[in-house]
Amino acid sequence: MSAARLGGRDDWRNATGDVIAATRVPNEVEHVEPLLRLEGIGKRFGAVQALSDVNLEIPAGKVTALAGDNGAGKSCLIKCISGIYAPDGGQMWWAGERVDIHTPRAAAALGIETVYQDLALCDNLDIVQNMFLGRERVRRMSLDEESMERSAKETLSSLAVTTVRSVRQPVASLSGGQRQSVAIAKAVLWNSKLVIMDEPTAALGVAQTAMVLDLVRKLAERGLAVLIVSHNMTDVFEVADRIAVLHLGKMAAVRPIGEVDTQIVVDLMTTGVSTRMQPGADTDAR
Ligand SMILES: Nc1ncnc2c1ncn2[C@@H]1O[C@H](COP(=O)(O)OP(=O)(O)OP(=O)(O)O)[C@@H](O)[C@H]1O
Ligand SMILES: [Mg+2]
Repeated sequence: MSAARLGGRDDWRNATGDVIAATRVPNEVEHVEPLLRLEGIGKRFGAVQALSDVNLEIPAGKVTALAGDNGAGKSCLIKCISGIYAPDGGQMWWAGERVDIHTPRAAAALGIETVYQDLALCDNLDIVQNMFLGRERVRRMSLDEESMERSAKETLSSLAVTTVRSVRQPVASLSGGQRQSVAIAKAVLWNSKLVIMDEPTAALGVAQTAMVLDLVRKLAERGLAVLIVSHNMTDVFEVADRIAVLHLGKMAAVRPIGEVDTQIVVDLMTTGVSTRMQPGADTDAR
């Protein structure tokens, strides 16, 4: 049966003219509002212009890698999104609404969780205490340890984190990969919508890196947006759907991962341009 879309309308008809579907037909050029949109973000530290006029869209359900040489502005951009630095200029839009993210608390209230390599967890606390830190459940004037423990276990097992022996283990006794897994599970437990990770695999071995990257993919499959900073091109090509490259504080390019290769990314990181990249594509990969 052949079907044709009728001039500008959203109903489809078969050869005899009967309407066979009247649902909304997604239009390729139709703009779907990303979870977070940054427009013209700038940040200066004295004489150093750390970020200039940075535009970036971060869609839900996708892993966006943020690449760039040392000092390119990656951490600075992440800190602007997570409420640690106030940008000097530009605007942010969260699910289509203008927002100002002045504090980490404001970021958390929107559903932005940032996972740092070392600072994410408290060593002296156990896994449950870490996952509920600052948001403890209380029942009859005391902590509801049972319910917190149950939720921590459920969240870890829903992400197939099986290497942790006990959720009552102090975080100090965990491996680097397990620590990252707990930090990621915490973001899931709190229904975060955007998880930002700064070099999550920098200190990890091969097996632990694979475990963390697997979790990153699971987050995207659950519909979360993930923004991941990484120097490791193998990791980036394995896990990311899109890549954004910063060069000296400016956004050099944003592309679907399939449109670039390592050499293009290295060109962009070192010079801000790449002659190998497909001409004509715009820098805003959705
Ligand atoms: N708090 C600060 N005070 C002064 N300058 C800063 C501050 N934070 C960042 N900068 C400067 O801003 C620029 C971008 O730094 P940023 O930490 O964002 O780089 P990066 O891309 O994360 O690098 P790396 O890969 O080394 O982590 C650098 O020139 C840095 O010196
Ligand atoms: Mg950094």
